[in-house]
Amino acid sequence: MGDKNATESILADAAGIARAAEILRSGGLVAVPTETVYGLAARADNEEAVAKIYAAKGRPSFNPLIVHVRDAEHARSYANLTGSASWLAELEWPGPLTLVVPLNPDAGLADAVSAGLPTVALRAPAHPVMRALLEICEFPLAAPSANRSGFISPTSASHVAASLDERIDLILDAGPCEKGLESTILAVREDGSWEELRPGPVDLDALHRHYFDRGLERGASGNSIEAPGQLASHYAPGKPVRLNAERAEADEFHIGFGAVAGDCSLSVSGNLAEAGSNLYACLHEATGSDLPRIAVAPIADTGLGKAINDRLRRASA
Ligand code: TXA
Ligand code: MG
Repeated sequence: MGDKNATESILADAAGIARAAEILRSGGLVAVPTETVYGLAARADNEEAVAKIYAAKGRPSFNPLIVHVRDAEHARSYANLTGSASWLAELEWPGPLTLVVPLNPDAGLADAVSAGLPTVALRAPAHPVMRALLEICEFPLAAPSANRSGFISPTSASHVAASLDERIDLILDAGPCEKGLESTILAVREDGSWEELRPGPVDLDALHRHYFDRGLERGASGNSIEAPGQLASHYAPGKPVRLNAERAEADEFHIGFGAVAGDCSLSVSGNLAEAGSNLYACLHEATGSDLPRIAVAPIADTGLGKAINDRLRRASA
């Protein structure tokens, strides 16, 4: 990070991926595309490299990181992946599902990755660039979203640059992220029950219905486990945000959805998948506008709408 010039952003082709792997191998920081949001990657087996993530983001040390792996078999080198965690990983990976499972303390992950917890968050991402990177790296990648702590997650290389320029070594640019919302986080307990820690692109209600006959027991959604980073005020766009706004005031930038047109629209046709993928780009645009406040049209609170409304509530807190 000694370099004080602007962080270079390069195309995520084979040469770009090879260069990123070299930087990561020597303990540097690279912003990488995933199907959810851009992640800020460092090798997860090296304390110094992981410490750089916390420093670049200004992230509190108690907030643990997600470790990105190739597949379920790779995950088993770092965690106790048994019962429902095991078949969820086999069936849902690669994809936007993060599993919080018991950490294998002898696995060689940097202590800071799990922030002292007895569990670790693992995910095998589906994005071809991130997958190619994990194939050529002989180490797993710790990667939180590639934004300064507390701000909106990045869904494009330019969002990353706006937040972390000069603080990281390289940005791999593969265009906008498909899902646009951070992964669903699921804690799987040793008795096989589970708890949703963060709603996301994988709809756990649908998953539960789909795999019900496999004997998956769903745990009560209580407060026994919390995702330490899920603070009420998060994803802050830097301006007051008003939700469920059919109409905007004169001083509000209006984010529309469906029949509510707005200054930009999450989805003109009212499609929730499209809305998820556009959410952070619209919030970034609203942040950059001259208007001092933001209003957001109502979004149906079903399926992916639950994850979108979760992020909007945090943006408005
Ligand atoms: O889609 C994603 O998940 C993206 C991409 C880059 O993979 N990553 C991401 O990371 O959103 P981050 O750091 O912004 O969010 C990770 C969340 C945090 O809220 C953190 O507290 C929680 O995961 N977490 C990590 N390890 C945990 C653990 N052992 N127990 C409970 N929560 C954990
Ligand atoms: Mg984040």
